Amino acid sequence: MRILIFNRRQFLTLSGIAGITVLAGSPKISFSQTGKEEKMAYTAKDYSKLIGMAGFSETLLKNHFTLYQGYVTNTNKLVDILGQMLKEGKTGTPEYAELKRRFGWEFNGMRLHEYYFENLGGKAGLDKDSALAKKMTEDFGSYEAWEKDFKATGSMRGIGWTVLYQDSVAGKLYNFWINEHDVSHPAGCNPILILDVFEHAFMIDYGLKRADYIEAFFKNIDWKAASARMK
Ligand SMILES: [Fe+2]
Repeated sequence: MRILIFNRRQFLTLSGIAGITVLAGSPKISFSQTGKEEKMAYTAKDYSKLIGMAGFSETLLKNHFTLYQGYVTNTNKLVDILGQMLKEGKTGTPEYAELKRRFGWEFNGMRLHEYYFENLGGKAGLDKDSALAKKMTEDFGSYEAWEKDFKATGSMRGIGWTVLYQDSVAGKLYNFWINEHDVSHPAGCNPILILDVFEHAFMIDYGLKRADYIEAFFKNIDWKAASARMK
């Protein structure tokens, strides 16, 4: 039996083929069989209003939107294929297991980009009287200390995400480093502010100068959107 394990690029290539045949051998599932044409689980959102944002070129943003749309497409594909495999009694197959493993990557890639784009495009700073600002002061000592920690987290070597999470059980705020987005998210926590530090998020405009990109990100945070995520 062949056990097939994909890396991300292989999966994208594979799943980009129309009428995907799921892996070698047994389950042949096409989208026409799954009824995908009739109903998509998710639709890519339009963030083109962000074009023109200071510090982010149109080329960079358009590339990023396209990448995000790929996550939506692949999330829909996996919803369809895994649902079809369940119906066909193919859940015990290595193909099912591998696609199931991919689901977290595609879903989180879709959702985190939505949070990221939605917490951009702001013009005003954080309202110091807001619940979020007060909580930052309570948990970090000051807004400035929170910002220092968030930026330091975003500047760490490696690709990933920096996420301000609120623990929905204890209410406490944490700046988390998320390496690959299908792993290491804190269970039950609420994402408040998302920073994408994968290279595609900044290299077109900033090369290796990630700190400059993070500064541009901070100038464009939509603090109202972030604050509204507080529970
Ligand atoms: Fe991204």
